[in-house]
Amino acid sequence: MKTLAIISQKGGVGKTTLATALAVAAERDGKNAAIFDLDPQASATFWKDTRPAESPAVAAIPPARLGHVMQAAAESGCDFAIIDAPPFAKDIAFEAAQAADFILIPTKPAVLDVMAMTKTLELVRHYVKPSAVVLTFCPTQGRELADTEAAITQLGATLAPVRIHNRIAYSRAQQTGQTAQEFEPDGKAAEEIQSLYKFVFIHLNTSTQSAAHDQAQIHKRTASRS
Ligand SMILES: Nc1ncnc2c1ncn2[C@@H]1O[C@H](COP(=O)(O)OP(=O)(O)OP(=O)(O)O)[C@@H](O)[C@H]1O
Ligand SMILES: [Mg+2]
Repeated sequence: MKTLAIISQKGGVGKTTLATALAVAAERDGKNAAIFDLDPQASATFWKDTRPAESPAVAAIPPARLGHVMQAAAESGCDFAIIDAPPFAKDIAFEAAQAADFILIPTKPAVLDVMAMTKTLELVRHYVKPSAVVLTFCPTQGRELADTEAAITQLGATLAPVRIHNRIAYSRAQQTGQTAQEFEPDGKAAEEIQSLYKFVFIHLNTSTQSAAHDQAQIHKRTASRS
């Protein structure tokens, strides 16, 4: 089972929207996907409650149960897990980062958001996990976007090669338990999600190769602290 965690200390940056859309993209790619909802607001779970389709599975779980529930999911055939983390909860973000093979950090293209993003980046780096920042709520015009992308790259972060724009399809879809690519299959949001899915898929598969190396580094750090 490959695990993607979507983490951002900032609220309302599109974590749950991307979790649901990427889970549906994975299902369409023949995967058995599940969302693990660690957020006490339970937005992904509420989305699932209104969803006519049976998949993907969504489980609202207490963070302390994450390891156990994920193991059970893997044993029952889940091969693409997505962890939807809550905002403002460092401890839960740590749990999510620890469980992940790859981490997406959604960030709005604004100065204060990028500053907040650096905190999430530090947290993720603690676990030596591969990660990428994905810009969300991007305006369809304006040169500030390129400046923001340059600033993020200068911080040493990997930038996902797809911008998620501010599009009504993302929010309208959620009103009926859908995702943007289901609501508007030929729309631009659908294209964005498919590109992001491809990017995530490639990184999830390459990250496993370096997992043993990452684990070794974590053990080394833990040993040097104790
Ligand atoms: N790219 C987008 N364009 C337009 N609206 C969006 C986009 N992404 C998300 N939204 C809307 O913005 C709101 C917040 O999105 P979402 O719940 O995914 O953020 P979040 O980071 O999970 O929030 P929280 O931190 O509270 O968990 C929702 O109403 C959603 O429909
Ligand atoms: Mg959310």
